[in-house]
Amino acid sequence: NKTSGWSALFSEPMSELVKRYTASVNFDKRLALFDIEGSLAHASMLAQQGIIGAQDLADIQRGMAQIKSEVDAGEFDWQLDLEDVHLNIEARLTALVGAAGKRLHTGRSRNDQVATDIRLWLRAQIDDICAALRGLQNGLLTVAEREADTILPGFTHLQVAQPITFGHHLLAYVNMFARDFERMSDCRRRVNRLPLGAAALAGTTYPIDREFVAAQLGFEGVCENSLDAVSDRDFAIEFCAAASLVMMHVSRFSEELVNWMSPRVGFIDLADRFCTGSSIMPQKKNPDVPELARGKTGRVYGDLMSLLTLMKGQPLAYNKDNQEDKEPLFDAADTVLETLIIFTEMVQGIIVKPENMRAAALQGFSTATDLADYLVKKGLPFRDAHEAVAHAVKICTQKKCDLADLNLEELRAATDLTTEQQALIGADVGHCLTLEGSVAARDHIGGTAPNQVRAAIARLRNNG
Ligand code: ARG
Repeated sequence: NKTSGWSALFSEPMSELVKRYTASVNFDKRLALFDIEGSLAHASMLAQQGIIGAQDLADIQRGMAQIKSEVDAGEFDWQLDLEDVHLNIEARLTALVGAAGKRLHTGRSRNDQVATDIRLWLRAQIDDICAALRGLQNGLLTVAEREADTILPGFTHLQVAQPITFGHHLLAYVNMFARDFERMSDCRRRVNRLPLGAAALAGTTYPIDREFVAAQLGFEGVCENSLDAVSDRDFAIEFCAAASLVMMHVSRFSEELVNWMSPRVGFIDLADRFCTGSSIMPQKKNPDVPELARGKTGRVYGDLMSLLTLMKGQPLAYNKDNQEDKEPLFDAADTVLETLIIFTEMVQGIIVKPENMRAAALQGFSTATDLADYLVKKGLPFRDAHEAVAHAVKICTQKKCDLADLNLEELRAATDLTTEQQALIGADVGHCLTLEGSVAARDHIGGTAPNQVRAAIARLRNNG
């Protein structure tokens, strides 16, 4: 008859306050199925090594199958008194199968158990996030292909710079998400290692087979050092860093969507099902989803900062501090996954307004660089060409017209070049001043020309 749930050592029950303060079951019950999976692999190894009997293994398997169905059905009776997911499941197992349940924890500690559970859980999350990144990339590729010829102004410093195609602009994000995919996949390699066998911190005296357990659980190998195995959480920090970069990219895209949808810009509209109205202003249609995604980016950065700070002062090996790793990690994974899924839907509902994009590209002398390049190709040094076009832009600004509005003689005169140099400008200059001529001329890998956009889309589709 124990006074405390812990052991005969304790002479009084745990304070209710401490119980609530130290319990994690309210959030770590989310790891239940991974906890069961890890326990089954551990039990198989114990039986294979003759550490427990074949009947014990069969009992454990039977009990765990029952527990799994209770968890799946939402009928498992989680108890705060049992602190965490691990002790809850172990107690239920013992209640169901008796002695075999009490043998399960042989050669194991909750320290290596929880580290294993988190890795199994995170690996599955990474796989979902990678699939969601691919989904968003494909959604963007569909729109990019449709809008490969659609011209809008490209900006630097938010000032009109040069004409670009909308397809090209979207492909910039596809490239960012491709790097995010790589980062997630790379992080997965370090997540995918087995801590079990480290026990509390020093390893265990039983003749265990860690490689067997690793293979059962689909891990690429074991965490080599037992102290490191139970106390390392850098894989979780790395995941949150990769997740933060995903959100940073989503946030930049969100900022653009919000801006493009502003009536002052009017480049796009978002499908009604992705917008919200106002409780007071009847005319409003607001881009809440991208705004919220921009806001949620801060949450994920916060999760990263929580984990970095959680780990920075911890001596080896396991410390209870580590229990605080779960909520930020869960939050980061949930936020990224949900955001990617909703964005995949949303981007396919982008309604492009090409006439507004075009009108904006015709303002601000977006083809001025093309005129300078034209003069260079006729033999003028680039710096002189740059200056000549600046003169012409100045004249146009005074006349309140575009470069393309000047006739050949007016354009020649506006450059302030010598008569001899002015003669370099021929009737063929007209083409390079058009928006179509400008984008088509940037015809190399990575350029905005529509055929380059199509080639890039084909490459991205092939590389997955
Ligand atoms: N709930 C604990 C955690 O999340 C499990 C490990 C507890 N180990 C211990 N020695 N108290 O980290």
